Amino acid sequence: MRCIECGKVHEMDRPAYACTSCGNLLEIRMDRAKALERFSETKMRKRPLSVWRYRELIPIGEGAQIFTLNEGGTQLLDAKRLAEDIGIRRLYIKFDGTNPTGSFKDRGMTVGITKAKELGMKTVACASTGNTSASLAAYAGLAGMKCVVLIPEGKVALGKLAQAMMHGATVVSVKGNFDEALDVVMRSAERFGLYVLNSVNPFRVEGQKTAAYEICDQLGGRSPEVLYIPVGNGGNSAAYWKGFAEYESLGAVNSHPMIRGIQAEGAAPIARMFSSGSTEMVPVPKPDTVATAIRIGNPANWKKTYRAIKESGGTATAVTDANILDAQKKMAKLEGIFAEPAGAAALAGVIADLESGALGKSSEVVCVSTGHGLKDPDVAISQSAKPLTIDASVESLGRLLGAP
Ligand code: F0G
Repeated sequence: MRCIECGKVHEMDRPAYACTSCGNLLEIRMDRAKALERFSETKMRKRPLSVWRYRELIPIGEGAQIFTLNEGGTQLLDAKRLAEDIGIRRLYIKFDGTNPTGSFKDRGMTVGITKAKELGMKTVACASTGNTSASLAAYAGLAGMKCVVLIPEGKVALGKLAQAMMHGATVVSVKGNFDEALDVVMRSAERFGLYVLNSVNPFRVEGQKTAAYEICDQLGGRSPEVLYIPVGNGGNSAAYWKGFAEYESLGAVNSHPMIRGIQAEGAAPIARMFSSGSTEMVPVPKPDTVATAIRIGNPANWKKTYRAIKESGGTATAVTDANILDAQKKMAKLEGIFAEPAGAAALAGVIADLESGALGKSSEVVCVSTGHGLKDPDVAISQSAKPLTIDASVESLGRLLGAP
């Protein structure tokens, strides 16, 4: 485990998130030679598509008890109707909203909780715009651990809140936004013996990177050309890049995709770095968007995700809330995929780029949809026509259908 900035090596046998020398985030570097020894494509292919299919590429001790709800193995849908509608040659959607708690967070949490147990921790914690708290609560319950989640007051979608409460977490509403809640959690961790499972935890990233391996396997052993992905705190986009880069270095694929990070206009500090050409992130003090999952103004992983996107040869852009809601509807109507607003942001990015010409119509794109639409029923209902009411009679239905 190394610091992303100064390279200082940190031991993996105790909780650690930031470098003890310079304060930057830590990442786990794969030892390529050792990984090549352990990694057998034949053995891997005999296992079902899932996070733990890639057991040998996940840095958890061999004897560890693994806490799993069978996460990963989500569909890569060949979205033909949607592709035709928006005018692109090929569009795949990696729908991670079908994970056990309805978002990609489960990929990271199965590894994170397994590590928490390995470290002998008793209590886990996170700050969350919703999905992390739902997922952490579920896995903490499974592992018999205490769980504390901090959420921004009034800004968490109903479904996510219901999940965290049902799974038995102590749910704490913070008078502030996500960035402020995360700051409180990070500063409390050591003092109160909390193991933090936000995406600043390097083991979360190790689980989430498996989505990139899966996409390559689902495409028949090749990487996509372009990957569109929503960016909030910046953990998932960095994790995807780690997965693609590792798979390429292991020779499982012979290329990697260009990563296009998509943010909501009201919470777009990473996109702004790319449009301004700045190498420093300027936080957005009052982030706002209908996609509450990515309502983040000061992404903790900004350096990781900025570097990941740069290294991939890609860029980050912003879309409006109207773009996001349009994309959400299209996905639901044309492909049967109901995503929450943040889970439609990447598609909104594809549509905007096709319209501006930044993306060619002959492209092949994989779009990551990160969370299920049932998480946020309020936004869905407010966007839809009200149900029609009739008397309980065949005649009434006939009149409504305009039948003769
Ligand atoms: N999509 C969804 C549905 C999310 O819940 C999140 C993040 C993202 C995208 C962005 O991923 O932060 O790794 O860049 N949700 C976090 C949470 C912040 O607390 O649930 P990121």
